[in-house]
Amino acid sequence: MAEKIAVIRACESMKPEDERICFDPYALHFLDPGTRQALLRNSGAFRYILAQIENQLPGISGALVARVRCFDEFVQQSTNTGYGQIIILGAGYDTRAYRMDDLKTIRVFEVDHPDTIRVKVEKIRKIFGTLPNQVTYVPADLEEDGLELKLADRGYDPTCRTLFLMEGLVMYLSPAAVDRIFSFTVKNSPKGSSVLFDYCPEDDGTGSGAGWASVRSATAFVSRQGEPLRSCVPGSIRDFLTTRGFAGIRNMTGADLRQAYFTGKNRGRTISELYSIASASVGTQTCTVGEEP
Ligand SMILES: C[S@@+](CC[C@H](N)C(=O)[O-])C[C@H]1O[C@@H](n2cnc3c(N)ncnc32)[C@H](O)[C@@H]1O
Repeated sequence: MAEKIAVIRACESMKPEDERICFDPYALHFLDPGTRQALLRNSGAFRYILAQIENQLPGISGALVARVRCFDEFVQQSTNTGYGQIIILGAGYDTRAYRMDDLKTIRVFEVDHPDTIRVKVEKIRKIFGTLPNQVTYVPADLEEDGLELKLADRGYDPTCRTLFLMEGLVMYLSPAAVDRIFSFTVKNSPKGSSVLFDYCPEDDGTGSGAGWASVRSATAFVSRQGEPLRSCVPGSIRDFLTTRGFAGIRNMTGADLRQAYFTGKNRGRTISELYSIASASVGTQTCTVGEEP
């Protein structure tokens, strides 16, 4: 799925500046050679690919690019507020540490499955000729215990205010693994540390209309890719996070993302309700994405 998401980021990034929702100049490097060549050789290929995706999974590319934009904005607003380190869990082919200037002077840990980390490291070496000093790669299966040790081994500082990013991760993990991660963040980072993550609200089967129809087709699609959705957040996100020790909770639904980002040339662009995005703080300090749920 990390590569499929990179395809959408790459296509969106080829749009003119006043049309694209997000910009990732490195996403192209993570695509299979055939798709990359097609995109480079044919100036209209990105629109064709996006249209095909839209046909197959209405609103998914909208939801993904809005998610990237929302995470980018959050990171941009956060980096000058005193975070000493950023942990990107399920980093996949996330390129924030390489494309955002503010992240070039802060310690970033990229955590993912060992196979994905191996490919990522190879690609980063190929793009930049070297690995950046400020990024530490942490191969870990998040379904297993031991994140604490693996991070500690690589220099994670539990006394340092930390921003935890989980983009497109929570839904792929078992509920037990999700609980372990949130518990790790609360126990191993000081007050004022924050989490930003997207999640699937529970589909209780009563949702109707295009938004929920697209959620159901997307769920079936990712299952066919061999990475089924395994966790959703049942009930309210506020209850989910407060019972796990978080405060300052903010939440953005698909509708909120559409309102925030789909203006001008993107007015009318469809967005799936598959994900919502939440942020919360360890302790009492508030961080700011969207409205209180
Ligand atoms: C949908 S991709 C999202 C990647 C990236 N965050 C993005 O938004 O482009 C999910 C990522 O979570 C990682 N992941 C899923 N299950 C995992 C596990 N058990 N342990 C470590 N990483 C896992 C996958 O390898 C993949 O890179």
